[in-house]
Amino acid sequence: MRHFTDLTDLTRDELAQLLREAARLKAAQKRREANDTMARRVVGLVFEKPSLRTRVSFEAAVAQMGGNSLFLPAQEVGLGWRESLEDFARTMNHYLDAMVLRVFKHTTVTSIAKVASIPIINGLSDAAHPCQAAADLLTVQECFGEVKGRTIVFIGDGNNVARSLALGCGMLGAKFRLSAPSGYGFEKSFTSTVRKHAPDAKLESETDPIKAVKDADILYTDVWTSMGQESEREERLKKFSPYQLNAELLSQAPKHVKVLHCLPAHRGEEITDEVMDGPQSVVFEQAGNRLHAQKAILELLLK
Ligand code: CP
Ligand code: NVA
Repeated sequence: MRHFTDLTDLTRDELAQLLREAARLKAAQKRREANDTMARRVVGLVFEKPSLRTRVSFEAAVAQMGGNSLFLPAQEVGLGWRESLEDFARTMNHYLDAMVLRVFKHTTVTSIAKVASIPIINGLSDAAHPCQAAADLLTVQECFGEVKGRTIVFIGDGNNVARSLALGCGMLGAKFRLSAPSGYGFEKSFTSTVRKHAPDAKLESETDPIKAVKDADILYTDVWTSMGQESEREERLKKFSPYQLNAELLSQAPKHVKVLHCLPAHRGEEITDEVMDGPQSVVFEQAGNRLHAQKAILELLLK
């Protein structure tokens, strides 16, 4: 059974093809072309954490492709506490055609995937956010024609969003540079995974954000405190304050640079209003691309 627990579930060619298909689906949706890929199919959305974009874009994608979705809050269906993850999955195998999971622990996704006879899609875990990365790469492709050869600079935490994007950039031949305070960069085990999957990946780190942005095509940021890390908020606010994406930092980057953020943004923390609402920001187009990228993911897994 094919799953999408992380970008490592795809080959490099499949990822490139996924982006081409997402672009085609976006154009087709603009023309309101009929799409029945999900006809008579039901997708379950099992969420342990809040969500706007992931939930709504999946529900809209499934509806536009002629299928149905069920929103199943994890607390309600008892994920991992009312019965084992495996028994949960073995039951869902009989009701659903695919399942999207948003969870705290990445191992929740992989444990379910192990016994699932339906495709499992990671809608965010502590380790990865591959649906986001697919939409991010689609956005880079739209801005510059192709992802290959571009320099993507991520200012902030080496978190789930940064990891999936770094992996995707490595797979597609873009340079990825992380600018994080020391202690918040990528772990060695993660960089080895990237190198295993994309041996020629250009993965860099630069703790000085001013140096980091010099040759950027894309500046990307995300919240400093991810869901589940709330107790670290005060400490993180202090450590990350030099990494704010503001007009001053933006002025150090090339004029053609575009600004991305996975959203939701903590305005005034990792990004200022001026930058987020400024002419270089494509954050809402990027959010829109979740819909098209996820249609391509569903198609790849279910067609
Ligand atoms: N970017 C993203 O995944 O947004 P939500 O948390 O609102 O789903
Ligand atoms: N890094 C953030 C992303 C939210 C879409 C989090 O995990 O909370």
